[in-house]
Amino acid sequence: MVKICCIGAGYVGGPTMAMIALKCPDIEVVVVDISKPRIAAWNSDDLPIYEPGLDDVVKSCRGKNLFFSTEVEKHVAEADIVFVSVNTPTKTRGLGAGKAADLTYWESAARMIADVSKSDKIVVEKSTVPVKTAEAIEKILTHNNKGINFQILSNPEFLAEGTAIEDLDMPDRVLIGGRMTPEGQKAVAALKAVYAHWVPEDRIITTNLWSAELSKLAANAFLAQRISSINAMSALCESTGADVNEVAFAVGKDSRIGPKFLNASVGFGGSCFQKDILNLVYICECNGLPEVANYWKQVVSINDYQKTRFVKRVVSSMFNTVSGKKIAVLGFAFKKDTGDTRETPAIDVCHGLLGDKALLSIYDPQVTEEQMKRDLAMNKFDWDHPQHLQPQSPTAFKQVSVVWDAYDACKDAHGICIITEWDEFKKLDYQKIYDNMQKPAFLFDGRNVLNVEEMRKIGFVVYSIGKPLDPWVKDLQVSI
Ligand code: UDX
Ligand code: UDX
Ligand code: ADP
Repeated sequence: MVKICCIGAGYVGGPTMAMIALKCPDIEVVVVDISKPRIAAWNSDDLPIYEPGLDDVVKSCRGKNLFFSTEVEKHVAEADIVFVSVNTPTKTRGLGAGKAADLTYWESAARMIADVSKSDKIVVEKSTVPVKTAEAIEKILTHNNKGINFQILSNPEFLAEGTAIEDLDMPDRVLIGGRMTPEGQKAVAALKAVYAHWVPEDRIITTNLWSAELSKLAANAFLAQRISSINAMSALCESTGADVNEVAFAVGKDSRIGPKFLNASVGFGGSCFQKDILNLVYICECNGLPEVANYWKQVVSINDYQKTRFVKRVVSSMFNTVSGKKIAVLGFAFKKDTGDTRETPAIDVCHGLLGDKALLSIYDPQVTEEQMKRDLAMNKFDWDHPQHLQPQSPTAFKQVSVVWDAYDACKDAHGICIITEWDEFKKLDYQKIYDNMQKPAFLFDGRNVLNVEEMRKIGFVVYSIGKPLDPWVKDLQVSI
């Protein structure tokens, strides 16, 4: 029986290994992590991440060929294939601070693999890492040559949160990069055989190591670029009276462009896009390519602009001050169908409104009060460290209350900001909400989930990203 061990039981490692276990009953999969609470949660009925369909997959394999453990060294030693899916935060100090990937966790995992291994192993990079990380890892693994053969593969994960199980079940592609040596190609074939249990052969792409590493950064950069492109258009739409949805639809009909990923929003979030682009920017700078670095930097700049622009719309529409006014924030997760808040635009929007002394009442169906308050208290990039996973008591915020019901959040509010596109926000009784709000009642739709005309008919003053402006909003705008 082939044994797989995955180091890191996070958003990538957990679901990916669960799917491998489900599809490959002949393989034993152990997911290990240094975080005891996280492993305990994976072994409980209350999994540490919310992902549609994940519970069923985990329950059908756990205890059979899928295990979660904190005995990191033991399981690594026993494995034939070791996936490494640990965090790679953005460096917050030293060389490359604010851009470069911090490979501390990766390096310590690699050193540990080297120390405990007694048999040949395939080591698979699963978490996104800078290009040529594999080379560094190879050096660490082989530094005290004990006659063990380590083959490094890059097998980046392309799943998106909220659809992780679908994405893993029917991936657009699986990418495996390896050394072009006979041993390297043998390792590629071994990993390919794992995925071939359920993924059609023509969807398993094999490349050299560097192409695989760079493809992951490039794919995320391209996806984020599409969002920044449509978001940049949304600002122009508001100024000209065009409707961003109509523009996106017309543009997306060109088969060379395609319709997906063209939803204008308050800004993209998530653990990958910004981090990977900043990383790409840093790699370009290190390789003497400042023009290329600047090109990609703009994708992040437009995203920051979009979040700031949203806050400015809110404040300026409400007579240039939100001081002491209750504002309902609907949604805190970085997208619907996940409880993940990493780099969520909600953090920046809340900070902006809190800076203007608003009183926030936040509701999200999947995010706890503890999580929201921790996020609002945290420094930039700090979310990507394991200590972030330990339970902590919520920081006191006089201006923030967290509620478990959208109607409660909106009661007596002056304004509502929709930050996450949860389906339930489309189905709320907005007449009832309007009736219980202060007047004029403002509605700021950061996800274009509501029908603007219907909301205006109820009586709301409405701002929706990239839509023709409400005369009220237009008249009161400062320059944005
Ligand atoms: C373009 C648009 O495609 C068309 O829809 C619009 O109506 C007019 O402008 P055109 O300029 O005729 O059409 O040709 P196109 O095939 O788009 O190529 C434009 C340039 O981009 C060419 O120099 C082409 O060589 C280059 N190109 C195109 C690339 O370098 N790489 C590509 O992948 C595609
Ligand atoms: C992304 C990539 O999609 C995935 O392939 C990669 O493996 C990890 O990074 P994820 O961050 O989980 O996945 O979610 P994604 O669906 O890509 O959304 C990222 C952010 O962009 C979210 O905040 C989302 O709301 C936003 N978004 C997405 C838009 O604002 N508009 C869109 O049209 C699409
Ligand atoms: P991702 O979104 O890429 O899956 P996460 O931050 O959700 O990233 O998960 C990474 C996991 O890796 C965390 O649970 C963290 O505790 C774990 N981890 C980090 N370093 C190590 C290590 N050296 N050994 C075992 N687990 C580790």
